[in-house]
Amino acid sequence: MTANELRRKYIDFFRRHGHAEIRSAPLVPENDPTVLFTTAGMHPLVPFLLGEKHPAGSRLVNVQKCVRTGDIEEVGDAVHLTFFEMLGNWSLGDYFKREAIHWSHAFLTDPAWLGLSAERLAVSVFAGDEDAPFDAEAFGTWRGLGMPEARIARLGKADNWWGPAGRTGPCGPDTEMFYWTGTGPAPAAFDPRDGRWVEIWNDVFMEYNKTEQGTYVPLRQKNVDTGMGVERVTAILQGRSTCYETELFAGLFDAIRGVTGAERPQESRSGRILAEHLRAATFLMADGVRPGNVDQGYVLRRLIRRAIRESRKLGTTAAVTRPLAEVVIDQYREVYPELGQNRAAILEEMGREESQFAATLERGLREFGKLVDSFPAHVERKVISGRKAFYLYETFGFPLELTVEMASERGFQVDEKGFEEAFRKHQETSRAGAEKKFKGGLADNSDRTTALHTATHLLHQALRRVLGEHVKQAGSNITADRLRFDFTHPERVPPEALAEVEKIVNEQIRRDLPIEVREMPYGEAEKTGAIGLFAERYGEVVKVYRIGDFSTEICGGPHVAHTGALGRFAIRKEEASSRGVRRIKAVLISEADA
Ligand code: ALA
Repeated sequence: MTANELRRKYIDFFRRHGHAEIRSAPLVPENDPTVLFTTAGMHPLVPFLLGEKHPAGSRLVNVQKCVRTGDIEEVGDAVHLTFFEMLGNWSLGDYFKREAIHWSHAFLTDPAWLGLSAERLAVSVFAGDEDAPFDAEAFGTWRGLGMPEARIARLGKADNWWGPAGRTGPCGPDTEMFYWTGTGPAPAAFDPRDGRWVEIWNDVFMEYNKTEQGTYVPLRQKNVDTGMGVERVTAILQGRSTCYETELFAGLFDAIRGVTGAERPQESRSGRILAEHLRAATFLMADGVRPGNVDQGYVLRRLIRRAIRESRKLGTTAAVTRPLAEVVIDQYREVYPELGQNRAAILEEMGREESQFAATLERGLREFGKLVDSFPAHVERKVISGRKAFYLYETFGFPLELTVEMASERGFQVDEKGFEEAFRKHQETSRAGAEKKFKGGLADNSDRTTALHTATHLLHQALRRVLGEHVKQAGSNITADRLRFDFTHPERVPPEALAEVEKIVNEQIRRDLPIEVREMPYGEAEKTGAIGLFAERYGEVVKVYRIGDFSTEICGGPHVAHTGALGRFAIRKEEASSRGVRRIKAVLISEADA
């Protein structure tokens, strides 16, 4: 079975069970302060898991693009990916454990669907702890489906609990399904530590909200959130040990073979990293991310540069990014039309980033030359320190292997242990930075955040009035303290224009405009002239928020009822975000503080 068939079957199965198909949300979350990327299908649905009504109904299904960068260093092995597709079905206060498990089991084992052997399945359920009890219902449901007791592991929070994605938010026990990929029949008992049991699906029962205080409060609305990785399951359905051996990567490896001359790139770490990273980079660019030095732009730059470095290890200095991006676009454009729609921009930016990086590598070579020349001729043991090797890596993108190789050509050694140390230290520092970034409540619906969300709509419209209609939202990130709004505009916004924007927003606040929400088909919403970047993501019916006569925007909400509740709006900063995208940070000052 191909990945295309898998996606189709999944959507089809859940549609037959009353689910509405929604589009994949973009990889860059809208209005979520806690994460850089959409890491699971539930992310864009958090407001709805917390009780907001979803226009498409209470049973949803989709294929969601996800990016997870936590294990970026592991990419190249058999399983780790930074970009992957996740199949998911949701109940928003509709069905619960019993139905979810029955459907999962039917979809996996029924010959009309995946037809996987029930003999090779095992599951895990939540064992219970001080926060929540043993999941007897999940356990009983699996037993009822004929799952032997020895194939049901009872595990704690570390394994069988999902969420919240941030510090607070919806979460709950889950039940995970595993498939035996070893040769011969599956052992009678399930050992979760045996890597031949591969996790294929996760049904999360979101029945708690984790609060700021760290307590778990039962949610009024009980939800189901599930996730199944397309790449992983495709490999299993095809009896492959890694997704790099499936058709999902075949085109990429053909192109890599063509560009680098490497014979079996799918078997080398470099070949896999090259394919994986440029696939991720192409998807990020299709969602508007551009290479840069902060946030998403930085991750994108890192992916591209790493890919290029790996191509050099495969023995080529030829341009690799564009030919590979073309493969990704052509292969996925039917499922993700944004790839085709942004084709020209993606290829142009890839090419630009690649030639810029090639120039950096050139500078690095010169730097390396200076470094070895600076050693006095009489020194016996010529060693390049770990710190210097790391400097070459960090500043000029030289992989250690490259430095070692060049060094040996000149009779030098490299302190590789010192390099590893410097590398680890750097990782720890950047991880600490990332953790700081991810602090904060998950898309919390606090009053302050909601007010700033409404202010974002006012700002968006005011920018369009002052700068022109080319201004489009390119990202938004809101915490309880400030809003951050990225928008397309080619140059710095002069202070007079910013002052004008601020004035317009404050006028709309003083007018105390009412905010109304209406649901309508997407096509109709478009006709009202509603703006909104992620317009099509809710499929057929969308919510349109109107702020008096000032702004009309397609958006999932929530918003305040009247603009008068916002306080005074003040822009704190205007800066470049990436090429062609500006960023504004702004706050609301409550009348009491003013
Ligand atoms: N949100 C759950 C996961 O990502 C389904 O595993």
